Amino acid sequence: MQHFINIQTCPAKIIKELIDRSNYWKSVTNQGPCNKILHNKTIGMIFEKPSTRTRIAFEVAITKLGGTSLFLNSKDLQLSRNEPIKDTARVLNSYLDGLVIRTYKHDVLDEFIKYSNIPIINGLSEQEHPCQTIADLLTMQELLGNLAGKKIVFVGRYNNVSHSLMMGSLKMGMTFALLIPTNDCPNTTVLEQAQEIAKNNNGNLLITQDIKEALTESSIIYTDVWQSMGDETQLNRINLMCYQINSNLLKQAEKDIKVMHCLPAKRNEEITDEVLESHQKTIFQQADNKLYSHMAILEKFVHLTN
Ligand code: CP
Ligand code: NVA
Repeated sequence: MQHFINIQTCPAKIIKELIDRSNYWKSVTNQGPCNKILHNKTIGMIFEKPSTRTRIAFEVAITKLGGTSLFLNSKDLQLSRNEPIKDTARVLNSYLDGLVIRTYKHDVLDEFIKYSNIPIINGLSEQEHPCQTIADLLTMQELLGNLAGKKIVFVGRYNNVSHSLMMGSLKMGMTFALLIPTNDCPNTTVLEQAQEIAKNNNGNLLITQDIKEALTESSIIYTDVWQSMGDETQLNRINLMCYQINSNLLKQAEKDIKVMHCLPAKRNEEITDEVLESHQKTIFQQADNKLYSHMAILEKFVHLTN
């Protein structure tokens, strides 16, 4: 049984395959009806947190592939009345062919995996957002061509999106620069894992407070909200302003740098309204690509594993 939980343990070969298949689904979806590879399959979607893109992209992807999606608000399940995950998982095994889960606690995914014999897909946890990374890598490949040797800088606060993006970019042989506050740095274990991935894939990890060093030769600058869903850290927004993507920061970047954001954005916090609007083409291309990358994820982890 294969699950899609994080980018770190997903081999580079499979990530590349997912990008290729996302490209394939993008081309066929825009030409007419697609191959109904999920015919007779029902995929449940347990969401503990709100979602616009991931939820709708998965629901539309499942429909286009001929399957049925069941949106399951966790508040309506007996899980909300403390039915154990192990009982829920064993029940769902007999009804469903796959499960997408968006959760506050990554441990919830681990517990589902222990008791599931259907594929589990991580639709975002506080630690990882692997489905987003596939859409992002597809977008970067469309923008830059071959990814190996290219540089991306993530600016803002280290979170689930930047974590998965770091692992994915390094696996593609890119230079991944983190321009983040020092107290947000990933822990030593994560850094060692990232360095190992970089070493094995000719990638390069750069963590710096030097704006010039971070931006030089970067083809992409990426940011995400300073406060993720469920994050109750008291933010010092004044101190974070030097990590905002605004026109002054972009003046120090390469002229043709592309700006990316997974959305939803908090305008004038991590990115100014002006920059978001002037780079909206790339940012909405990224959102659009979630549909095709989620089709590729369903193909790989639901269709091909059943
Ligand atoms: N980017 C993303 O995952 O958006 P949603 O929270 O709307 O799903
Ligand atoms: N880091 C954000 C991403 C939302 C898609 C969050 O977890 O809220």
